[in-house]
Amino acid sequence: MSKIIEVKDLCKTYVINKRQNNVLKNVNFSIEEGEMVAIMGPSGSGKSTLLYTVSGMDNATCGDIKFNGKNIAKLKEKKLAELRLNEMGFIFQQMYMMKNLTVLDNIVLPAMRSNKTKQSKKEKIKHGEDLMRKLGIIQIADNDINEVSGGQLQRACICRSMINNPKIIFADEPTGSLNRTSSKEVMDELIKLNKEGTTIMMVTHDAKIAAKCSRVLYIVDGNIQGEYKLPNTSSEKEEMERERELNNWLMELGW
Ligand SMILES: Nc1ncnc2c1ncn2[C@@H]1O[C@H](COP(=O)(O)OP(=O)(O)O)[C@@H](O)[C@H]1O
Ligand SMILES: [Mg+2]
Repeated sequence: MSKIIEVKDLCKTYVINKRQNNVLKNVNFSIEEGEMVAIMGPSGSGKSTLLYTVSGMDNATCGDIKFNGKNIAKLKEKKLAELRLNEMGFIFQQMYMMKNLTVLDNIVLPAMRSNKTKQSKKEKIKHGEDLMRKLGIIQIADNDINEVSGGQLQRACICRSMINNPKIIFADEPTGSLNRTSSKEVMDELIKLNKEGTTIMMVTHDAKIAAKCSRVLYIVDGNIQGEYKLPNTSSEKEEMERERELNNWLMELGW
């Protein structure tokens, strides 16, 4: 296995009205290809900031972030944008879909902007439709994005994040605004993608969801306070045990 993400002494400081807010303080971790890592921690501890900086959407204040061995801080803006477009997928609550486009157009947009493959426009649209079919939302392909439910929209976000076959998907509370049923459906899809080989780094508040991951990083006040590796399970009973153990660990950390 090789490291897809390597973070060394990462810090991020926001300055507002000359006051410094040190949000990330010397964070160190790495992610192996194929892992599904959950980021947990109290509100305001820096989880979203970590996703933004690691994915190159925001600059780090200091430290190194390597993606497949490449230092992303050293990339020119254009190369970084290309890397984000072609190798990374994003499921962020704050990233709304374009209101004047249909769901399908929104999903296919990153493919239209990319020249990663030699696919024709028609093939890109077909790929978008195939993803929608896979996620069970093909019936809303031509809908406006304000004509769909929250669960459908979130699944559309997953389709969009997948359209350029990224190596890694960054997700910030992808099920945060969903009811229990939609939440489970969306999670099942992410797990499926991970099983098919896509690495996933995901912020979640839900221990049940974190229990489905291979590893949990717990952040407090901009530091990684602890790391929990989840064992492989083969039965439902083992899965419940795994969830219970994770809950115990989280409680020890003050969750
Ligand atoms: N763009 C920003 N500008 C200034 N401060 C920010 C910005 N984004 C986040 N912060 C601050 O960073 C801290 C951590 O925020 P965030 O990463 O969103 O936490 P979490 O996702 O764990 O709830 C908070 O104090 C927040 O106010
Ligand atoms: Mg957040």
